[in-house]
Amino acid sequence: MRIPAARIDRHRGGWWWAAGAALLFTGIVCCAQDQMPTKKSDYSEMTKAPQSAVTRHNPLENDPDAVAAGDKLFERHCSECHGKTAEGTKKGPSLRVPDVQQASPGTLFWLVTNGVVRRGMPVWSKLPEPQRWQLVSYIKSLTPASPAVQSEGNSSSPKD
Ligand code: HEC
Repeated sequence: MRIPAARIDRHRGGWWWAAGAALLFTGIVCCAQDQMPTKKSDYSEMTKAPQSAVTRHNPLENDPDAVAAGDKLFERHCSECHGKTAEGTKKGPSLRVPDVQQASPGTLFWLVTNGVVRRGMPVWSKLPEPQRWQLVSYIKSLTPASPAVQSEGNSSSPKD
């Protein structure tokens, strides 16, 4: 008995082509979404900082001028990608997100020093260390983009 298997196979093949085309199309649509106003980052690079870097203290922590100096440096070197107020652009992610704000100063210093070159974040080891710490002070002074406002006073009613 002879089943026209070839015909069936060709028919199936057609479906595979359709599925392939659909996948390709989905891929194109997904990539187009990369044109969003801010570049996406999973902020995972900071988790790779060695412990000795994470625990490093910001020597300028109590320097009242560090934030203002860092602001100027940020505008000059970083705003092109991260935006004037670190809100993010299509070239660099926002630095006002919890992942960055909750990172230790030492972690941020480490990241700025080493960059994430393969993902478009340059190395800044050429900036003098005090300037890198000023940048850290500035980043740390920022308020998160989406403030979790829960500053309601405790509303326990007075008993007497
Ligand atoms: C050419 C564009 C560009 C410039 C200029 C730039 N960055 Fe970035 N930066 C990026 C990109 C892209 C990432 C995301 C890297 C990733 O995906 O991990 C990033 C990530 C970061 C992060 C960590 C957040 C994360 O995504 O993990 C910090 C902190 C940061 N940058 C600070 C700075 C500072 C401070 C400067 C200026 C000295 C600066 N950047 C200049 C592109 C840039």
